[in-house]
Parts: sequence; structure tokens; C-alpha cells
Amino acid sequence: MLIMSVESTCDETAVALVRDGRELITDQIFSQADLHAIYGGVVPEIASRGHIEVISQLATRAVETAGVHKSEIDAVAVSYAPGLIGAVLVGVNFAKSAAAALGVPLIPVHHIRAHIAANYLAYPELEPPFMCMAVSGGNTLLVHVKAYTEMEIVGRTRDDAAGECFDKTARVLGLGYPGGAKVDARSRGGNDMKYDLPVSELAGLPYDMSFSGLKTAVINLVHNAQQKGEELDVPSLCASFQRAVSLALVPRAVAAARERDCDRLVVAGGVAANSRIRGDFESAARENGLTLFVPPLKLCGDNGAMVGAQGYYEYMAGNTAGSGLNAYASMDIS
Ligand code: KG4
Repeated sequence: MLIMSVESTCDETAVALVRDGRELITDQIFSQADLHAIYGGVVPEIASRGHIEVISQLATRAVETAGVHKSEIDAVAVSYAPGLIGAVLVGVNFAKSAAAALGVPLIPVHHIRAHIAANYLAYPELEPPFMCMAVSGGNTLLVHVKAYTEMEIVGRTRDDAAGECFDKTARVLGLGYPGGAKVDARSRGGNDMKYDLPVSELAGLPYDMSFSGLKTAVINLVHNAQQKGEELDVPSLCASFQRAVSLALVPRAVAAARERDCDRLVVAGGVAANSRIRGDFESAARENGLTLFVPPLKLCGDNGAMVGAQGYYEYMAGNTAGSGLNAYASMDIS
């Protein structure tokens, strides 16, 4: 089954072609990061307009690059939640039009389900059930994936997402946007024990997370140093920050996998690109006898292929939509 899949929930526009949920044929991605960099973060209105400008060309280019005829497309899948509402609407309306024009089914896909499904493209052997830590710019969720379309939230951030915390840390350090990769790069050679940063524990909620305290601690530390005229050791601060984020994510994911008898542990989302977090997941999985799946770097951030991967399984479960499909800024993954 050949699916054309559309992604536009934040600042990447992407149109991909994916066969049978597992084979990536082409993914045409346009990142708006440069458009937003001067503002230090994503400007929703600019994002929506940016998607409108490129989405049709990306679809045309996807079909041309793949060397397929439009009549070979069996369905159109789209990220319809959660995300910046104006941005998501662009993808949803494009996908609705494409599905109607091609006379094929329309498949609504939850954006975080899609991030998890990025792993199906990289690992043919991966099948549910498994435990997944999904960490992106807008969401941080610990999910028990019981079946391709059956998920239970085991834990979640109570405030900021881990990616948001990365972006704010980068901003206060003047490293620019998007921040995660920049913090990652600057952490090289830093001493991860130099700065004592908080790792939140929530009473009675062992799998829930909180990153706002960490974010505030970094901001205060930087502002205090600036006011006192003290020089910060930026690589060590980045390394200490990453250690704190990793300590919030990795032990929880491992404990949840063990508690739920999952022998497979999956990581997904933009923050899964972080070198420290990837390394810590690898060590923890090895020490606990878990098989770890982390997407290759190109499938960590937003892309169209992951939507096609999950879209296939949504279609198999009968989850299709009509022309009344709407976009949603927030939606539970389960
Ligand atoms: O999954 P994603 O592309 O978009 C959402 O669905 O939110 O995630 C974007 C987030 C941003 O916060 C970005 O700073 C973060 O992923 N990110 C990273 C790295 N690369 C991207 N965070 C930490 N280390 C990285 N190497």
C-alpha cells in the first residue's frame, strides 16, 4: 500500500511516500528554522504561511522523485494533532484536497504516534508491545505501546517538554534557535558534574516528569552570573544540563519497561537526537537486558515519513476520516 503522508504541525513542512508502513521511498522536507531563528523561537503565523508556500511543491517533488504516478497512491495520511493550530490546518486541508482529488482514503495520524512509528522505518523487526519515551519540542510522554494503535500513557511532563527546556537553555546562553542541537554541540568536553541542576521527582507520580524547575534553574544561574560579572563555563553548563534531562528520562523509561514486562525500549522525537541521552539510553538498556530502538538522526525530528508509517497501521485498524476532518492543537495520544 503506497501512502502519501503530510506533516506540518510546527516548523517543518514535509510530504513523503511510504510503502506498507515500513519502506521509506522519499521524504521531501522543508525546514523553516532559519525563518524563526531571528525571533528565537517559532512564530505561529509565520509557520502557517511558510507551510502554505511550499506544501504543493513538496508533494509534486515527492511524486517526481519517487518516479510514481499519482494514480499509484492508495491513501493520504496527515498529522492532524497536536501542534500549532494554524500550521496543522495547512497540512490537514492540503491532505483533504489531495485525498479528494485522487479519490483515495484520508488517514488522520496523531503526531506523537507518528514520532514513535519513525522507528518502524528504521527497524523492520520492531513490533509492539514496547515501552516508549517520546521526547519532542512540545511533548514528553512515556507511553506503553500495546499494539500499533493502542497506547496507554504511563507518564508525562506536568509542565514544559524536554525539548522546550533545551530551546530555552540555548536561548538564555545565546546559542540560537533551534537550541537542542546547539546545546548538544557545546556540551562536548564539558564537565557534567560542575553545575548542580535539579531533577524533579513528583510525589506519588513516579513516571511523571517536570522540566520547568530545571529551566528556571538554568535561567537564574545565567542571570546571576551575568549580574555578578562571572564567566560561565558554557560547555560544562550544557553538559550538566543534559545530565539532568537524561536523569529525568532514562531511569523512568527503564523502570516503566521493567514494571510492564516490556523487553523492548523505544525512544522517539527530536530530543532523541541528543548524543548524551542516546548514550545513556544505550548503557541503561544494556545493563537492564532491554533491547533498545532509537531512530537514526534524520528520523528523530519532524518528517513526513513517520506519518506514513503510522498512517499505514491506522488504516489497517480502520481509522480513516471524511472531508470533515479537523485539526487540533492538543489531543491525547491514547
Ligand atoms: O520532534 P521535533 O522535531 O518537533 C516536535 O514535534 O516538537 O522536536 C524538536 C525539538 C526541539 O526542542 C529541538 O531543540 C530538539 O527537538 N532537538 C534536540 C536535538 N536536536 C533537536 N534536543 C537535544 N539534542 C539534540 N541534538
